[in-house]
Amino acid sequence: MRPSLSLRPGILRALALLCACAAWLIIAGHVTQAFGNPSGTTNIFRPLSQPAQEVQELSLLVIAICTVIFLVVAGLLAYTIIRFRQRAGDEASEPPQIYGSNQIEMAWTVLPILIVFVLILVTSRSIANIQNREASPDALRATVIGHQWWWEIRYPKLGIVTANELHVPASDASGRRPTFLKLESADVAHSFWVPQLAGKTDLIPNRENLMWIEPTEIGTYLGNCAEYCGTQHARMLIRVVVQTPEEFERWVGEQQQAAAEEASAAEGRVVFFANSCVNCHTIRGTTAQGMFGPDLTHMMSRQTLASGAAPNTPAGLRAWVRDPQAVKVGCLMPNMQMTDEEVDKIVAYLQTLK
Ligand code: CUA
Repeated sequence: MRPSLSLRPGILRALALLCACAAWLIIAGHVTQAFGNPSGTTNIFRPLSQPAQEVQELSLLVIAICTVIFLVVAGLLAYTIIRFRQRAGDEASEPPQIYGSNQIEMAWTVLPILIVFVLILVTSRSIANIQNREASPDALRATVIGHQWWWEIRYPKLGIVTANELHVPASDASGRRPTFLKLESADVAHSFWVPQLAGKTDLIPNRENLMWIEPTEIGTYLGNCAEYCGTQHARMLIRVVVQTPEEFERWVGEQQQAAAEEASAAEGRVVFFANSCVNCHTIRGTTAQGMFGPDLTHMMSRQTLASGAAPNTPAGLRAWVRDPQAVKVGCLMPNMQMTDEEVDKIVAYLQTLK
């Protein structure tokens, strides 16, 4: 049976409502994502470093231009729909038919070309500003290597290897202290993204990508892997700890030391070295020289375990050592099937690695 004509406006209204709901959901989702957590530490609208500030200024200009275009187009459309709607008595005569207008066609060809040209120029300027930044010979350099699913962080000149937490000094009136990052991958493609510091840059196997950050405010900045890289992509979190130059120097000094050897941890050390932990982890100053997992020399100086999957607390550490698969399903650290006693001893040893 054909639907009666009177049903159509109802269907149209329902469709419009559905579209509006879908649009709202998409926009709300993006806004929530963009604003990140309530403390604002992943908020793309609150950049606290170059080049994120440069990117934000450019985005605001592009959004402003697009908003003007949207308002003009939507305004003309709304005006036309209302002004030239069908009125009573219109059925008899056809409205005047107009074929072409040179002025209007010129306008809607030339104007968009000019707008696109402006967008190309401002974007090229920002890209050049970011990409052509030269590193001074004494600039801080770090290598970030993406792994499934954690971040290896190396400071080649300083002889430091750590994981999941990048420490950098802040720039201030006394000097600019940018950090230049070399991005690599040990397995699949990852992406380094700390929204308040810089745009995202991919870590691609067999390739070196470069980026730099120059934060001016002290604090801990949160970021995520931003390229799907497998099961635990969502729990491949990164922290950038921005410190005063003095605090950063102190941190460097601590990290450069070999692992502490506390007598109280002797039993745990025996268990650790008797198990296959040493095949994957390095503890500088010991025979543990594995390269697959994070360097544990100063693991207690880090805020989280397993790239942000668990807090680095005694309870968190215990749960992690007992069964990594329960904390982070699919991670490469296996359940070593240790007894409670062994777990306690290893945890006691690991807690001395400050
Ligand atoms: Cu690494 Cu997603």
